[in-house]
Amino acid sequence: MTHDLLPNSSVIGILGGGQLGRMLAMAAARLGYKVRIFEPSDHAPAGDVALSVTQAGYDDHAALKAFALSCDLLTFEFENIPSAALALLEGTRPFFPARAALEVSQDRLVEKDFLNSLGLKTAPYAAIDAAEDVAQALAKTGCPAILKTRRFGYDGKGQARVMAASEADAAYANLNGAPAIAEGFIEFSREISIIIARGRDGRVAAFDPGENHHVGGILSTTTVPANIPAILRADAVLLASKIVTALDYVGVMGVELFVTPQGLVVNEIAPRVHNSGHWTQAGCAVDQFEQHIRAITGWPLGNGQRHANVVMENLIGADVARAAEMADTAGVQIHLYGKVDVRPGRKMGHINPGDGRGLNGAGAVLPRFYCTPRALDYNAINLHRFHSAPWPRGHVSPFRRSSCGSQIEVFDAQKNRYPLHHDHRRGADRHWAGV
Ligand SMILES: Nc1ncnc2c1ncn2[C@@H]1O[C@H](COP(=O)(O)OP(=O)(O)O)[C@@H](O)[C@H]1O
Ligand SMILES: [Mg+2]
Repeated sequence: MTHDLLPNSSVIGILGGGQLGRMLAMAAARLGYKVRIFEPSDHAPAGDVALSVTQAGYDDHAALKAFALSCDLLTFEFENIPSAALALLEGTRPFFPARAALEVSQDRLVEKDFLNSLGLKTAPYAAIDAAEDVAQALAKTGCPAILKTRRFGYDGKGQARVMAASEADAAYANLNGAPAIAEGFIEFSREISIIIARGRDGRVAAFDPGENHHVGGILSTTTVPANIPAILRADAVLLASKIVTALDYVGVMGVELFVTPQGLVVNEIAPRVHNSGHWTQAGCAVDQFEQHIRAITGWPLGNGQRHANVVMENLIGADVARAAEMADTAGVQIHLYGKVDVRPGRKMGHINPGDGRGLNGAGAVLPRFYCTPRALDYNAINLHRFHSAPWPRGHVSPFRRSSCGSQIEVFDAQKNRYPLHHDHRRGADRHWAGV
């Protein structure tokens, strides 16, 4: 079902002009839309592929308002838009995802409180407002711990590790007195992330979780499929669904997760397209950028089905020189962001080498996750419990089937197939359909 479909040729305003905005603009163009960019800095990679760029700060409310009024719909690729700017924008044009999601993710303390209020697991955490709070915070989180500024952290910036309590004061001093949180250190076996979308009609579609590898705090590669059991894929889909639904979210969100022996722990959420979702450009018919544009403009969502294995690799700083040599390799998709200055740590582009094959070789059915508002009660479903519980006669455990590489789907009430409010231990219905 579409929902107030934004007419062809309408103008989408994107706040933030980096590479994410650039790839959103290109996806918007494919769907027949035009894009304008708002960006404070003087070279916006997204500006190269947009109708116009407004170069002004987020505190320039006149410029912000004029920009908004020159567009039909607003979205963003940059998370740290100040509250006053958000309030102003909200009153002008439809704005997706809504301010509430942005405000939750802008502050690590608010974000952790929110995730815990949904019953999801996070690292143990405590607020640090001043140096005298440090000892008490560490008593709560245990050691080792990581101190993180509540706001403005990215690519590992604004963080200090505390391996022993004796290092804590020095670590906090590194954060220059900014309001912070302490997080207990999670012993994870892998880091994964899931890219999920929610449309204006409340439907939710997720991509296959990717496995992330960081170098120096910056994402280096994302590999799909992640090397995790099928049950954790299902968990990732459901918990991310729960987050986007609780926020009444519209658009694409990235959810970063730690894999632990006790299950998935949520690290953080990003209310936008995400670097760890770039693999979808080579792995899915509808990639995360088009998915975001579809979600906010009222198009039906793509279903997230993956048709290839991919190892997305970021080209950081001087790595960009490798692009030309990679171009000679079959099956490699190259993305360069048009940034002029090559600087260490700067994301210059990425490559998506795909093997053109799925989990079980050519022609295999690949994971396809699609769920809707009824599919969202991750805690009530308690997948681990069901996994070990006896399955009703005639019903095949979806997890056993999905571990063979079959699809995982949850259908909604309109499709009228597997409504999740039933307790499937009573045999009312299957909630998950294996193919
Ligand atoms: N509580 C934690 N326990 C263990 N490792 C962590 C924890 N928090 C963060 N990390 C590591 O640091 C990286 C960056 O932290 P993150 O909170 O994601 O910040 P950023 O906003 O910079 O991405 C994570 O990807 C993970 O490798
Ligand atoms: Mg992160």
